[in-house]
Amino acid sequence: MELLFNLSGEHPELPKAEIFAVLEGEGIPYRICSENKENRILILDVDTQNPSFIERLAMTKKAGEFIGISKNLNELAQKLYERMSEGTFSVESESQTTRERLGEEIWKLGFTVDLLNPNSRILCFKDNQKGYSIAIETPVERDFSDRKPQNRPYFHPTSINPKIARVLVNLARVKRDNAVLDPFCGTGGILIEAGLMGIQFFGSDIDEKMVDGCVRNLEHYGLKGEITKGNAMELTPEGKFDAIVTDPPYGRSSFMTERNTKKFYEDFLFSASKILDSGKYLVMILPDSSELEAKGFEIKEKYSLYVHKSLTRKIFVLRRK
Ligand SMILES: C[S@@+](CC[C@H](N)C(=O)[O-])C[C@H]1O[C@@H](n2cnc3c(N)ncnc32)[C@H](O)[C@@H]1O
Repeated sequence: MELLFNLSGEHPELPKAEIFAVLEGEGIPYRICSENKENRILILDVDTQNPSFIERLAMTKKAGEFIGISKNLNELAQKLYERMSEGTFSVESESQTTRERLGEEIWKLGFTVDLLNPNSRILCFKDNQKGYSIAIETPVERDFSDRKPQNRPYFHPTSINPKIARVLVNLARVKRDNAVLDPFCGTGGILIEAGLMGIQFFGSDIDEKMVDGCVRNLEHYGLKGEITKGNAMELTPEGKFDAIVTDPPYGRSSFMTERNTKKFYEDFLFSASKILDSGKYLVMILPDSSELEAKGFEIKEKYSLYVHKSLTRKIFVLRRK
């Protein structure tokens, strides 16, 4: 089926990389049909009849079944008619005129407008050259605000933002029931996102207070996992985890067990390389200035990510050789 994705403008590459990584992780073949950077629309031909993977995406604003692109709204309404569920609909578009014009065309075909709880939500994106791209939205819950670290029972200033945490998990190419380890789990930001996506999670931290706080935070979201006290430099056992996703200590506010940060990260990679099988992914977020000699790993992707005015970080997507 063809799917339309309205990518978030938060980053030039990550929204697309996240989609491709989730599809790879879920084992769903895909092909890029078109991409419009101007209005951040990506159309993919995806080899599945069940697009539930869309629910996982943190950096896609809206997505749904692609119906067509045309300058003629009447023609698009006719195409919609064949695919829409009976009953009510709403139209979403940046332009009020487009909303009204497309709404009228659909209404003429016998559907009723319901802005609050429609059977079909129609997405309409205008492209200056080709006209309007139309999709029937796959509704998803993408509100990260109730998972703000400040709203959890245990808070620490180094807690990762939930949206970034979700992107990191997704970049690790894991699917439901795979096992993910965060060996610097802190308050559990990454594990919460993994757990909410139905991924099995395991965490450890050298600081007992963090371990207790992490368990409390997970319980707050109805999640249970194995969280233990441990040193990330001595990881075991081999072959148990499908991926490692982590946010090691950085900067002055964090607890570091080794003054030389580059060596610290590389020692950690050595420890991780002992337990990950070939082809498995390790995703980590480091200070922006970091460069890694990732022995035993291939650096697949690297992204600079602006977090706030005094913090830019770098995401490394590594694949065990
Ligand atoms: C940046 S914080 C992780 C924050 C976490 N992502 C969250 O959402 O709360 C880094 C964590 O690494 C832990 N840590 C530092 N050195 C460690 C080591 N050698 N092994 C395991 N954990 C360690 C710290 O206690 C701290 O909780």
